[in-house]
Amino acid sequence: MQCGRSGGDSGRRSRGYRSLAALCRPTHCPLPCRPRFIRRQRLLRCTTAIMGTAAGLLLAGVLLLSTRTWGSSLHNPRNPINNMPVIGLLEQETHFDELVHLGHSYIAASYVKTLESAGARVIPIRINLPEEEYKKIFNVINGFLLPGGGVDLQHSGYAKVAKIFYDLALEANKKGDYFPIWGTCLGFEQLTVLTSGELLLTLTKTDDISLPLNFTESSKLFRNIPDSLYKTLSSKPLTANFHFWSLSMQNFTANEKLRKFYNVLSTNSDGVVEFISTFEAYDYPIYGVQWHPEKNPFEWKKTSDISHTAEAVQVAFYMAEFFVNEARKSQHQFTDEAQTKYPLIYNYCPTYTGNISCFEQMYFF
Ligand SMILES: *[C@@H]1O[C@H](CO)[C@@H](O)[C@H](O)[C@H]1NC(C)=O
Ligand SMILES: *[C@@H]1O[C@H](CO)[C@@H](O)[C@H](O)[C@H]1NC(C)=O
Ligand SMILES: *[C@@H]1O[C@H](CO)[C@@H](O)[C@H](O)[C@H]1NC(C)=O
Repeated sequence: MQCGRSGGDSGRRSRGYRSLAALCRPTHCPLPCRPRFIRRQRLLRCTTAIMGTAAGLLLAGVLLLSTRTWGSSLHNPRNPINNMPVIGLLEQETHFDELVHLGHSYIAASYVKTLESAGARVIPIRINLPEEEYKKIFNVINGFLLPGGGVDLQHSGYAKVAKIFYDLALEANKKGDYFPIWGTCLGFEQLTVLTSGELLLTLTKTDDISLPLNFTESSKLFRNIPDSLYKTLSSKPLTANFHFWSLSMQNFTANEKLRKFYNVLSTNSDGVVEFISTFEAYDYPIYGVQWHPEKNPFEWKKTSDISHTAEAVQVAFYMAEFFVNEARKSQHQFTDEAQTKYPLIYNYCPTYTGNISCFEQMYFF
């Protein structure tokens, strides 16, 4: 039983890091880091297109409102909202020796619950399918989530399938086929590898520690967060960190591919290294958090430094709601045929693992 480690990115190596709760004190976030509207939104586009008649103006108002609510540079606000979003959630190789007998790959149930609570349905994405299957799956789902965990970022099945979906998403988004991707912890790290083509991470003392976010930029992601929650998130240690590896600001800034692709939304420090805790892509609906929003409402390991306050839980659902709203912009249809071929997670039973791992429940495959 390795609890500090099992929620994080342990598989890449490294033992012996003890948790450092209380190393970082909450810092006050001054007013200028209040989120502002994103630079790239194109509110004007829809207003000019349909000005003229009174009905047109009314419609423009409605569209304007929806752009402000779910705005992003790629979104065409004339697209209808898809209220039946299905998210593909990637499984990974079971990297805990003591759990392998339960299945060779897994998904932690907290990710499923988080997505479901925001109004999405989930299908597990298996890591051992023939490559052409992934393209078919891509065309029937509305978003892709890379969960946390502990497998190799270059050679695992998780890494291989992540690359397939990442490439498909870039291609689709460029053509106006909106498709969001979310990476949490290991998933965040995987995004840095996918975008830069390199492993640029460095060891930090960030296993099992909750931190407030140091906000940097205005963003799509935090644009609609309630003011009071934003303040709490920047002053109280709500975000659960379970990682040995981080992307330092130094390596991010030195890497042109990453710098051009991602807007850094928040950073944190382990006392030595300043690392990126949240980012979003400038031109794509791609989001990454090094921390674990899904743990606050759904993971209860007693020895872990996970906040269960009302605000921490609210942050988790804010993030889930944001991502699922992004998925609602995808027009892919999860047809009846798709449903037969790619069973929803409802077809699987989670196993209770609260006494043998950091996750209360896991799906094994
Ligand atoms: C930068 O990335 C390299 C790997 O390319 C890594 O060895 C190094 O520790 C990183 N440095 C920092 C400060 O993040
Ligand atoms: C926020 O940033 C400051 C300045 O870099 C740093 O000293 C502090 O530790 C950071 N806070 C957290 C919680 O990471
Ligand atoms: C964990 O709980 C399950 C279900 O209650 C039980 O079957 C199993 O023996 C327990 N394992 C340990 C190591 O306590």
